Amino acid sequence: MEPMSRRILVTAALPYANGPIHIGHLVEYIQTDIWVRFQKLRGNRCLYICADDTHGTAIMIRARQEGRSEEALIADMREQHIRDFSGFDIEFDHYGSTHSEENRRLCAQIWQSVTDAGLVVEKPVEQLYDPQAGTYLADRFVKGICPVCKSPDQYGDHCEKCLSNYTPKELIDPRSTLSGATPELREAPHRFIRLETLHAFLNEWTQSGRHLQPEIANYLKGHFLGDELRDWDVTRPPQYFGFEIPDFPGNYWYVWFDAPIGYIASTWQWCQQNQESLDDWWKSPDCEVHHFIGKDITYFHTLFWPGILKTAGFSLPTFVHIHGFLTVDGEKMSKSRGTFVQAETYLKHLDPSYLRYFFASKLSGKVDDLDLNVDEFKAKVDADLVGKVVNIASRCARFVAGGRLSDVYPADDRLFADAAAAGDRIAALFEACDYNAALREIMVLADRANQYIEANEPWKLRKDETQQDALRDVCTVGLNLFRQIAVYLAPVLPQLARQTATLLNSPIAHWDDAQTPLTGTPVSPFEHMLQRVDPGQVQKMIEDSKSSSPADAPAAVNPQSSSFDDGPEPLQQEPMTDAHCTIDDFIKVDMRVARVIAANHVEGADKLLQLTLSLGGDETRNVFAGIKSVYNPEQLIGRLVICCANLAPRKMRFGTSEGMVLASGSGGQDIYLLSPDSGAKPGMRVH
Ligand code: 2FM
Ligand code: ZN
Repeated sequence: MEPMSRRILVTAALPYANGPIHIGHLVEYIQTDIWVRFQKLRGNRCLYICADDTHGTAIMIRARQEGRSEEALIADMREQHIRDFSGFDIEFDHYGSTHSEENRRLCAQIWQSVTDAGLVVEKPVEQLYDPQAGTYLADRFVKGICPVCKSPDQYGDHCEKCLSNYTPKELIDPRSTLSGATPELREAPHRFIRLETLHAFLNEWTQSGRHLQPEIANYLKGHFLGDELRDWDVTRPPQYFGFEIPDFPGNYWYVWFDAPIGYIASTWQWCQQNQESLDDWWKSPDCEVHHFIGKDITYFHTLFWPGILKTAGFSLPTFVHIHGFLTVDGEKMSKSRGTFVQAETYLKHLDPSYLRYFFASKLSGKVDDLDLNVDEFKAKVDADLVGKVVNIASRCARFVAGGRLSDVYPADDRLFADAAAAGDRIAALFEACDYNAALREIMVLADRANQYIEANEPWKLRKDETQQDALRDVCTVGLNLFRQIAVYLAPVLPQLARQTATLLNSPIAHWDDAQTPLTGTPVSPFEHMLQRVDPGQVQKMIEDSKSSSPADAPAAVNPQSSSFDDGPEPLQQEPMTDAHCTIDDFIKVDMRVARVIAANHVEGADKLLQLTLSLGGDETRNVFAGIKSVYNPEQLIGRLVICCANLAPRKMRFGTSEGMVLASGSGGQDIYLLSPDSGAKPGMRVH
């Protein structure tokens, strides 16, 4: 039997302090937030713990580049991260930092435990050294050709294509992603943790069927546990930003040693603030520990981490929930396509509830990648949230706003009772992280509620003086069915739960609030809850994401942005010409920077926009451009383009075109206007 109230500690991976939060990160923080909110709503004692992951070479280099201390940089990033998370209603109980005194002390304590257990050995290591950056290179910051399968552009320690692990030394043709320099080999002593000593334990723990998704357990068995486990290199020579190791002066713990310990350190800070004992959360068999992570950091969380926890006497994870990566429209997120959307950019244009709902609808507790298809995003949010859920409230609330619900809950053909009975089933799906199935069940309830309203036509009852009691009864049923749905959706849509609480003057504080209908309570005036997704805003968000400044996510530091994956297709589609162009030919074409000062649709032309381009001063050009399939007039006004200014004027059906704006792409949805870097002025010639 499950105890009445469980004690549950939940973590999401600690985001690196060297870059902004983007929608790829949010897959994890949102799904974890949903799970935590669900647990709290069920009456469990649950803590959502996170922190910034602050150590390592990348932060050190970036701080240097920005001419400030690492401490100043990470303080700034932490503030930004907290702001972004709260914008998405992601509510941590504590958000710490791995660069804390608590973490330093825990690292020392755990280090002592692994040393006492005889797991630490010292060996010389030849490591790649970036002579330009003056530092040894963390494995993630070396890229080259995989020594096993020969795939290009793989990390220094593992291959994403064949999933092999190796050392950066084995990588073929390595280069530093920090500076682009070719690294040199240098030798220094490192200390290692003998993981092999824990092999039997890790076999048992990973294969028990209780702590990992089956596909993860199999992956570990197939890739690691069949062989001797490699010693794990957990120290770094200077220069490094991290904690200096007490019994190995001048050396630092590797960021991946202190990062997961940050889970405990952050909990400890929470405990200090709340007069609780850390042991109750990290050493008690009565407390469950759940980690949510992405599949790329499986190895750390399912082998190293349980090994360390076991050795140091902390609780082992009850479950490690592992998810896949986010793709957008079937492809890896990309800056040039504008699909590398930062949390901050998203929030400027769209409601966070959309993304929470959409991600939830895509998550089913599996390790598969999930895709954000922009059309599907709009279709799903519009159909489910606006068309089904909010629709129930908006069709009923206005007829009883300012009044009260009926004093006795009316007969409703068992609708409320059936939906109440669905509560346990829906809860089991949330518990299993199968949010997709949970939402499908909830949408069935929404469909039934809408059918009830259609059958009872409150808008007709309203017009009949003699039917006012019946009207109130129908709205009482409708609003109660709506509230039940808002309770079930509360983990996903906390904003909707708050709005519902305001509308019906009754808080949503417990899952069981869906078990008893409200009667006699006052109904507030109906205020809009959610709008349909505005495609113009989606487009603007994508445009903004194309232009977000490189300083926000430094290309040289962020490993994700340094992997270019340019394919040969464009050149294959349109092979290059063999004929040479002389400089004289080139000079004949007078290309200028121009500003779009007016843009309009053209009657009777479905591909064209009419643009007025300013070349500075009074000089303008009227140009018809075939870019309507991708650009709308409002979004063009004010932007700089490149135009061919001496193209012979051409009479068209709609007027005379006096030039041409330069664009790339094959047409249709594949059109990209060229623009100069910022600072260029209209009228400047392009040489
Ligand atoms: O992969 C990452 O983004 C790491 N910063 C995650 C650390 S999780 C934990 F171990 F701290
Ligand atoms: Zn490989």
